Amino acid sequence: MKEKIIIFDTTLRDGEQSLQTSLNIKEKVKIALALEKMNIDIIEAGFPISSPGDFKSVQQICKHVKNSTICSLARCLEKDIRIAAEAMSQLENFRLHLFLGTSKLHIESKLKKNFQEIHQMALKSIKIAQKYTDDIEFSCEDAGRTSIDNLCRIVESLIKNGVKTINIPDTVGYTIPNEFSKIIENLYKRVPNIDQVIISIHCHNDLGMAVGNSISAIQAGARQIEGTITGIGERAGNTALEEIIMAIKTRKKLLNFFTNIQHKEIYHTSKIVSEICNIPIPINKAIIGENAFSHSSGIHQDGVIKNRKNYEIMSPKDIGLKKIQFNLTPRSGRAAVKQRMKEIGYIEKKDYNLKKLYKNFLKLADKKGQICDYDLEKLAFKKKYLEKKPYFILKNLKIILKFYGKTKIFIDLICGKKIKKLFIKTKNDVIKKIYQGLKKISSFNIFIKNFQISSITKGKKIFNKINLIAEYNNKKFHSTHTSKNLLKSSVYVMIEILNNIWKLNQIYKKNK
Ligand code: KIV
Ligand code: ZN
Repeated sequence: MKEKIIIFDTTLRDGEQSLQTSLNIKEKVKIALALEKMNIDIIEAGFPISSPGDFKSVQQICKHVKNSTICSLARCLEKDIRIAAEAMSQLENFRLHLFLGTSKLHIESKLKKNFQEIHQMALKSIKIAQKYTDDIEFSCEDAGRTSIDNLCRIVESLIKNGVKTINIPDTVGYTIPNEFSKIIENLYKRVPNIDQVIISIHCHNDLGMAVGNSISAIQAGARQIEGTITGIGERAGNTALEEIIMAIKTRKKLLNFFTNIQHKEIYHTSKIVSEICNIPIPINKAIIGENAFSHSSGIHQDGVIKNRKNYEIMSPKDIGLKKIQFNLTPRSGRAAVKQRMKEIGYIEKKDYNLKKLYKNFLKLADKKGQICDYDLEKLAFKKKYLEKKPYFILKNLKIILKFYGKTKIFIDLICGKKIKKLFIKTKNDVIKKIYQGLKKISSFNIFIKNFQISSITKGKKIFNKINLIAEYNNKKFHSTHTSKNLLKSSVYVMIEILNNIWKLNQIYKKNK
């Protein structure tokens, strides 16, 4: 029978502590609610002693989250434990997570104690925590570098004293998979009362082994995995939970485990975490990266059209993504171009000539690299497209830039036969507000997919290059502009995109 792996999320504690600016209460509650919707078993909401803000956000998370167990971190100190328990006191059931270094290095150079002393400190703190809850998790910090004899000794007595979950962290991401699984195996072999406890693991990614180590640990007997969404966390981060969850699901026959996670929420949750924490998801990140389900080479694209399983081990739908995607590049074949045209609503022969389109596609792809949907449409309907005059024309753009006050932007935009005026007065998020205004004027429901600024030097002069990708009706539109004025370029690229959307809407209407 398959065994359950408990998923313990520490995005709001280990993840949050690694951010350059801490999150506010509203943001933390939003993340906690997304985690709850994903069906995370245990949410580590914070480290209440660390700041009054953290204390309040743990309280608010307790107020809003109903289905996941809430947990708070505390050092093995009476005050820490009391404050952590107080932050969660409105709940009937909650978990207290105590931690103490057990490696020689941590004991001697950080805690300035010996093993006997930290052993006693651990037992004393358990007694204190038991006044508040019987759901106690204990972490032997730096377990990955702790002598196995000491680790077995302390684990055995923690169990005797009523700890329900023992966490074995590889705090500095030092171990490699078969070394880490041996630690767990040894605990199962040498600790006589081990069957009375859940062994948890908590890995860091300093050597890029966090997910591998976590999987090897559950194969050796661990039943709780700790990690964060997108893998954010101290230094190189923590185990990325989305990778763990999908590995357990995808390789269920081999691993013989299950989780209770609603995997269809993975994509959405990862977007929320990335946006709120301001940590972009790398394009090639496993499971949730933009390229994780897109295929580039012609051979792969053709293989996927014939049978997706040829090059896909998971379905994007499993993580809540609607579609697979082909990166249309010079390596793409005719089949991929035809498939994409079909997806965006055009039928070969009726609407366009594939042979001609593919020939022009290759020429442009060689020059441009990646081809967007609107490029394809432009090529397919070139003449009709070029005949169209732009609908949106910038008549006037005035920027009064204030570094300490509010920046003012005046835009007069010709929209067909009308002139629409946009006035923005703001202290921050200037470009975001300009785009919101232009979106409203155009009434195109566009989403910004990527906005990049890079600096280019020409001689002694520095220019800004804006790269904007926006999505409208499931189609991507792209524009770039280089100038000395960042704000002006930002306006130009958006207007170009609005015109491309408008032109294609006209052609599309005529074709229907
Ligand atoms: O990495 C670590 O050891 C920790 C503990 C507090 C569990 O984050
Ligand atoms: Zn950690």
